[in-house]
Amino acid sequence: MARTVRFHEIGGPDVLRLEDVEPGAPGPGEVLLRVEAIGVNRAEVLFRSGQYIQAPKLPAGLGAEAAGVVEAVGAGVSFAVGDRVSVLPAFSQNDYSVYAEQAIVPADALVHRPDGVDAVTGAAVWMPYLTAYGAMVEVGGMRAGDTAVINAASSSVGIAAIHTANRLGATPIAVTRTEAKKQRLLEEGAAEVIVSDEQDVAAAILALTGGRGAEFVFDAVAGPGVLELGRVVAADGTLFLWGAQSGLPTPYPGFDLGMPALAMRTFTVHEITRAPERLRRAAAFVTSGLRTGAFRAVVDRVFPLAEISLAHKHMESNTQVGKIVVTTS
Ligand SMILES: NC(=O)c1ccc[n+]([C@@H]2O[C@H](COP(=O)([O-])OP(=O)(O)OC[C@H]3O[C@@H](n4cnc5c(N)ncnc54)[C@H](OP(=O)(O)O)[C@@H]3O)[C@@H](O)[C@H]2O)c1
Repeated sequence: MARTVRFHEIGGPDVLRLEDVEPGAPGPGEVLLRVEAIGVNRAEVLFRSGQYIQAPKLPAGLGAEAAGVVEAVGAGVSFAVGDRVSVLPAFSQNDYSVYAEQAIVPADALVHRPDGVDAVTGAAVWMPYLTAYGAMVEVGGMRAGDTAVINAASSSVGIAAIHTANRLGATPIAVTRTEAKKQRLLEEGAAEVIVSDEQDVAAAILALTGGRGAEFVFDAVAGPGVLELGRVVAADGTLFLWGAQSGLPTPYPGFDLGMPALAMRTFTVHEITRAPERLRRAAAFVTSGLRTGAFRAVVDRVFPLAEISLAHKHMESNTQVGKIVVTTS
């Protein structure tokens, strides 16, 4: 039996329960993982509260990012018992879930965890850097000299985007809501930080870019705020929506702005993790960044599995800077 987080009704963090569940044996293409650490993501908060792009099939498990050790393998799997691995977010939480001491996961979602990469790091880096890489490099084609505006910059994805822009020779402009996080974002490599509660975001970005705007805007908030962000996208630039924290309907700003050459698109990490060739490039990019020190786990707080509800409450407080991780031991 493995202690496993499940919920039987949609709701707040307190619907999460720890239950003893028999994980079973891995089928073809699957492994049984001893989970050591779990990366907590906003997607799980949204899934639990019924606001995600898929509805949970109750009773439901949670989690798509983890680090651990392979305990058993199914047919046709190239991983071996004892391999240290990370689980990448490549599947629906209705099919597999990793908030547990042991979990069955698809081998396609695994990468080897190099010596020296501890479990917390192995559970903290993949969702943020794969998302940043996917939108910025693979889809966006970002180059040295470009400017990237990053909204909700203190999120784990936002910080990975700051690191990624710097690695490419682009200029990251961070947007955060409160002054409290400004200094920290500068320390993480933001070239400039705009505090949206206090500043006119569009005016500040246009001033910083000499009126040109930014080639890329990455927004995790969406909703009516895109009308302001759309104003600061340079001609032929792109407004990427990779999250919808506002929970509000999102207009397309192009017509209000006089029909500029503005592309707006959504992006999910599954565009990378479900495309083997893209994933191979992405994993190489992230691994080399970790090796050189350009990328690293930025962990806000670590909770034990028994405090999973507190971990979700902490995420919903929006006071964090970087990643929230849960450990099983
Ligand atoms: N598309 C994908 O595949 C993908 C993958 C991973 C994550 N995401 C998305 O990326 C975002 C960040 O996820 P995460 O897990 O890294 O971080 P997170 O910890 O959930 O991000 C929290 C941060 O988002 C900002 N925020 C929260 N609510 C907000 C609101 N109502 N209005 C404006 N800003 C708000 C705050 O940043 P400030 O205090 O700095 O303003 C807050 O600290 C989420 O929207 C998530 O869904 C998308």
